[in-house]
Amino acid sequence: MALMTAIEDATARFRAGEAEIASAFFSQPRPLEQHAFMLRIQVAREIRNLVEISRGELTEQVDRVDADMTRDEIVAELREHYYETRHYAMLGNLLEGITGEHLDWKVLAQERETADWAAAGRREGKLKRERAAISPLHAAAAQFNSGGGGSVAFGMIGLAGGAYEELLAETAKIILHDEMAHGEVLGGRNPLYALVTSEEDAQAALEVVRDYSALRLEGRNFQFGYPLSGERVEAIVGGDIEPIGLDALEAAYAGAIDDEEWLDRYRAAPKPLAGATVLR
Ligand SMILES: [Fe+2]
Repeated sequence: MALMTAIEDATARFRAGEAEIASAFFSQPRPLEQHAFMLRIQVAREIRNLVEISRGELTEQVDRVDADMTRDEIVAELREHYYETRHYAMLGNLLEGITGEHLDWKVLAQERETADWAAAGRREGKLKRERAAISPLHAAAAQFNSGGGGSVAFGMIGLAGGAYEELLAETAKIILHDEMAHGEVLGGRNPLYALVTSEEDAQAALEVVRDYSALRLEGRNFQFGYPLSGERVEAIVGGDIEPIGLDALEAAYAGAIDDEEWLDRYRAAPKPLAGATVLR
């Protein structure tokens, strides 16, 4: 849809910005603590579905199936829970694998309510809720680049050096697959496509997408220990970057292994995981 062109283009540039942050991070060895910090924030971003299931949302939905919820809807829900849970599991394993410290998602869930390291995530959530209160269009626009469409994952594809980097690269492919293959996050399936019906809608949505994405970009740079300068981040916000389109994302996860194969490889690797980019 022509009205969506500017929104798609802006998103594809912000996506490239997040990928640039991840590749800049891995372009040189960094202290173990920085890797652990980066991973902990990522893991905390992936526990949302565990929190939902723990609250009983899934049980409640199962009770509605064949009444006001369809069988296909529950399958889609379960698939999303499975995907997000496996993102959590792989990244959590990697965090434990490099640090040797036991991870507990409930502790993370508690910490992210107030901890400094989770401030960026909280700011993103707040912006999303505020925009969502304006209108369904604003809500969909605030969701449009949510999850970044695997942007950070894109920046980790092709990492090599040690078991840590190789497993991270495989994790990134699986995450990209999950975001691209079935999610509503990307492409024409996103609800925003149906909601943008005029030039004004497109303008309003673009503004929300840009605000949200700029906030995400800042949060990413913080997460990765500021591998990009403030000027570079500003330039990216201004659009000075090659966009990463959906075809590039799709091509990037070709040949992704499944999570069983991933776990076999993880288990076979000596612990703590050796990382060529990890300074111990
Ligand atoms: Fe995820």
